[in-house]
Amino acid sequence: MIDQATIDRIIDAAEISEVVGEFVTLKRRGVNMLGNCPFHNEKTPSFTVSPAKGIFKCFGCGKGGNSVNFIMEHESLSYPEALKWLAKKYNIDVKEEEETPEQLKQKDDRESMMIVSGWAQKYFTRYLNEETEGRSVGMSYLRERGIRDEIIKKFELGFCPDGKDVFTQQAQKQGYKMEYLERTGLTIKRDDWVRDRFAGRVMFPIHNVAGRVIAFGGRTLKADKNTAKYLNSPESEIYHKSRVLYGIYQAKRDITRLDKCYLVEGYTDVLSMHQAGIENVVASSGTALTHDQIRLIKRFTPNITIIYDGDAAGIKASLRGIDLVLEEGVNVKVLLLPDGEDPDSFSRSMSSSQLTAYIEQNETDFIRFKTNLLMKGVANDPIEKARLVNDIVRTIAIVPDAITRSIYIQDCSRLMDVQEEVLYAQVRKIIQKQTEDLQKKNFRDRNYQQKEQQEPGPDFFFDEPASASAKSVAPPPKQQYTCEIEEREIIRIMLKYFNEEVFEEEDENGEVFTFSVGQFVLEELENDGLRSDNELINRILDLFADNLENPEFNPTSFFIRSADPQVSQLATDLLAEKYIESKRWKKGGAFVEEEHEILDLLVPKIVQEYKLSKVRHLLRDLENQIQQAGKGENWEHLMELQNQYINLKKVAKHLSEQLGNRTIL
Ligand code: CTP
Ligand code: MN
Repeated sequence: MIDQATIDRIIDAAEISEVVGEFVTLKRRGVNMLGNCPFHNEKTPSFTVSPAKGIFKCFGCGKGGNSVNFIMEHESLSYPEALKWLAKKYNIDVKEEEETPEQLKQKDDRESMMIVSGWAQKYFTRYLNEETEGRSVGMSYLRERGIRDEIIKKFELGFCPDGKDVFTQQAQKQGYKMEYLERTGLTIKRDDWVRDRFAGRVMFPIHNVAGRVIAFGGRTLKADKNTAKYLNSPESEIYHKSRVLYGIYQAKRDITRLDKCYLVEGYTDVLSMHQAGIENVVASSGTALTHDQIRLIKRFTPNITIIYDGDAAGIKASLRGIDLVLEEGVNVKVLLLPDGEDPDSFSRSMSSSQLTAYIEQNETDFIRFKTNLLMKGVANDPIEKARLVNDIVRTIAIVPDAITRSIYIQDCSRLMDVQEEVLYAQVRKIIQKQTEDLQKKNFRDRNYQQKEQQEPGPDFFFDEPASASAKSVAPPPKQQYTCEIEEREIIRIMLKYFNEEVFEEEDENGEVFTFSVGQFVLEELENDGLRSDNELINRILDLFADNLENPEFNPTSFFIRSADPQVSQLATDLLAEKYIESKRWKKGGAFVEEEHEILDLLVPKIVQEYKLSKVRHLLRDLENQIQQAGKGENWEHLMELQNQYINLKKVAKHLSEQLGNRTIL
């Protein structure tokens, strides 16, 4: 358990744009910031951060919350784990209430795995730099390859002692448990023996975006053909190969700054490019490129250049990469190095400025790349040529953006000597087919989703309706309980203005005293005995009431920070909604546009609208009851109901008159 004071310190320190900014490139948009959502795949950014409110909200997938929620979601952590993550980032000591040995044992597995990986990295690094074996074997290998000290340091390279289980023994002596050594794959354990996975290898730690070590690649120094050149950590709870890119932590700053990312194949390619002064580079590290990896890059830039070896395998990998990258709506270029060279060897053969110039001059868009590659020997064979054109057209059809597509078509037309119209027709046919398939799929998905969640309505946006076009066609929200819209509005107005003293009243002695929005609303509801049909709303109303006398109460942060995910979710949603201000609100003859300037008019109006809506529901109920009663013989009951009905009608009339008076114009 982390005590509340520490939780508050952590949340105060964890500035939302800074926390989100670790993982997502944000651009300023008015008072908010905008970026590509890390939680779903999107082509236009609809992920919004409001530094003023301390919250994020994605209008595409609906995820939202405060900085703790973001870390929980993004790093798959529990609430206390996320707090600790943030505490670490902001150097805040977490005072945990005394833990029993029992609780210590239960400490989160993932965290334990990261801790042992972090320790292992430090151990390997120290071994490389300080121990005789590390220096004479590991370090001399790296030096021989011409890798400079600063790069060795930057990538935290290391060396794992040769032998059976030197590392594992050390780790255990330090108190690290075999369970986690095994689960991270650092140690291989069978019934009757134990050994170090990486014994005698140069170690390349693999960091996640936030910079924590989650896995390793180890290079053998033996020439033995039977030993794998690289060994990698196995898949684990903290290491999912398909979602990780080697070097992303060291590259993310420059990827953002230069708005471009180079994608290479291996560990040494990344190192050498850095050494040559090019730091916006990551590697897929031996695995075939995946969608998740491209999405990871896309959080930082939409521009990727694939740099692969010029050999057959490199070409094949590039071709596969192109379609994958295009599908994600990313701009892709390709640079094939001369046959036999990889970025590592190639970057060594020239100066850093020569390398930059070479890349700029030789990177080509994918059409040219494919054409150049496949046209060889095809020019005179019409069947082969048609096949190639079709191949390229299919790739063009993957591009989500129409303008980009048309540029590619022009290129292709010129290079392949085929009429543009023909290509257009072909692309259109493919896209049409895709759209139809997609519509069918969406229809199925939507039918399913409607039961699950409520679609945000058209009034649901931050200051900047980033994906307004997509959202404006969304159907109005379906009410899930009576008066949902009005009750949400009441909660929203209290979240924002609970403590604002905007009401005045004079007592019998002529003394004027003021009271707040919160007091006004709660008193009005209390007087009429109004409760919601929805438990969550009642829970929140009760929390407001509990804090009526609390001078320190800040409803926005209180509810957004709530450990009850339903509460913080609703608070986030409501704060993200922008009140649609009617410019026709008039006060003292002047037009006002800000809702906080008209709270004395607005709040009573909102409360009355709520009451009116409640009354209308009651009336409808009564109508039904009267109808039922009319069928029976219970005249007394019927009379009673009709009286109630008449009284309620009066209340409704009164309320709507009052509302009419308040609605100026
Ligand atoms: N790789 C791997 N397992 C292997 C061989 C390769 O995981 N058995 C991955 C590594 O990430 C490696 C990348 O594939 O960096 C590219 O392989 P390769 O070109 O063979 O290695 P280099 O990076 O060139 O390494 P070196 O220069 O040390 O030979
Ligand atoms: Mn190499």
